[in-house]
Amino acid sequence: MKMDSKFLWGGSIAAHQCEGAVNEGNKGTGIMDLVTVGAYGQPREIHETFQKDSRYPSHQGIDFYHRYKEDIALFAEMGFKALRISIDWSRIFPKGDEKVPNQAGLDFYNDVVDELLKHNIEPIVTLYHFEMPIHLVTEYGSWKNRQVIDFYLKFCETMFRSLKGKVTYWVTFNEMNHIDPQTEASDIFTYIIAGLKYSEIENKKETLALIGYHMTLASCLAVNLAREIDPKNKVGCVFGIEPVYPVDCNPQNVLNAFQQMDRDFYQIDAMCNGEFPKYKMKEYQAIGIELEISEADQQAFKNGKLDFIGMNYYASSVAEYEGAEGGASALFGGLQNPFLKVSKWGWSIDPIGIRYLLNYTYRKYGLPIMITENGLGAVDVVEEDGQIHDEYRIEYLKNHILEIKKAIEIDQVDCIGYLMWGPIDLVSATTGQMSKRYGFIHVDLDDEGEGTLARSRKDSFEWYKQTIKDNAENLVD
Ligand code: BG6
Repeated sequence: MKMDSKFLWGGSIAAHQCEGAVNEGNKGTGIMDLVTVGAYGQPREIHETFQKDSRYPSHQGIDFYHRYKEDIALFAEMGFKALRISIDWSRIFPKGDEKVPNQAGLDFYNDVVDELLKHNIEPIVTLYHFEMPIHLVTEYGSWKNRQVIDFYLKFCETMFRSLKGKVTYWVTFNEMNHIDPQTEASDIFTYIIAGLKYSEIENKKETLALIGYHMTLASCLAVNLAREIDPKNKVGCVFGIEPVYPVDCNPQNVLNAFQQMDRDFYQIDAMCNGEFPKYKMKEYQAIGIELEISEADQQAFKNGKLDFIGMNYYASSVAEYEGAEGGASALFGGLQNPFLKVSKWGWSIDPIGIRYLLNYTYRKYGLPIMITENGLGAVDVVEEDGQIHDEYRIEYLKNHILEIKKAIEIDQVDCIGYLMWGPIDLVSATTGQMSKRYGFIHVDLDDEGEGTLARSRKDSFEWYKQTIKDNAENLVD
């Protein structure tokens, strides 16, 4: 296989991290609208109601809501073939349970998609990237409640119909696999996915099993729906997965690493193999959890197999065996790998890990894989002449793209695209900071919300433009 002319080069962004305009277009409150900026190294605070003196970065984002034309023109200048955006559910159904969608929300996303098409950029639309209306959490208990599946499907159907003929690639969910971080260390992972604080969830194992099941089922039902509405639709689901390496070759440690890595795959198994995995059901039964799987559900799994797998890749981790109860959590943590450097935010930098994961996932499922996120969060310095020399970002991306190329050309993995995360600086999901920058395009905005919001090109801008133009032939190891 080759990285041919159809390869989807581009980037990924998410609504709550860039749109801002929280009070415009009749938008409702989404779960991330209640989360503050985390000072460096501190977790973000999650509030139940807005507090006067707190700053909620999603309210301003990077003002993509008003500046999307300018931003898309810059993506086009780099030669983007695709852009992954997300729809903020609370712009379409402000509370989530309304009968009629909000026209202003539909108009906005139609305008964004039209703008992309005008520049020959393929829109890839994520239906759920941490943007659930908070009302569904407070009034219905979030995904614990099966009724939320119906609200989600109504939202999906609305979008499939509204963007029919314009959008072909859809993503049902972003990173639902992080629903159970298995650590009290941070509330943010379960919250961003389901609006619930991990530390406050009662009967954690049972509740998270139920939420995981409902979301997995919802994804399969959405796949069925998308095909019914337009057989041309291609539907994927995005997972945030990372290789988990054993700390040494002690077989117990190897087994532990395998188990930690594998725990992120049960939902992918369900969405690719046509049934909710029997091993997971039995595992739940063994600890007294009985999930009800109706015949209709079984049918939904059978017919709702994905067309492609979306893979978000940032880092690998190292697991350590800590006794019979299980090992250290692998989610953006675990042990330090002595062979790898880490980013300022402690994420390991492991280009070979992406080749490993592409091989592993492709051999397991045989489905096309799209790299839906990959990038480096770094501190950028604006020089006196206004330039940003981000050679560390170029280095990170180059090394990852080279490994993807090897996966395609040597290992024969069917990888259909590379969507770099954060082609324009945006709000960090885990920390809320602007200073954790990913972009080719700098946005003049700091963690306190000060700045002109002006856009400017970093050195990596030209580099990515050239890489797309040359189909990565310009890159050397
Ligand atoms: C992914 C999410 O897990 O990681 C993005 O899908 C997120 O929304 C990205 O922004 C990078 O994480 P962070 O915390 O650096 O923004």
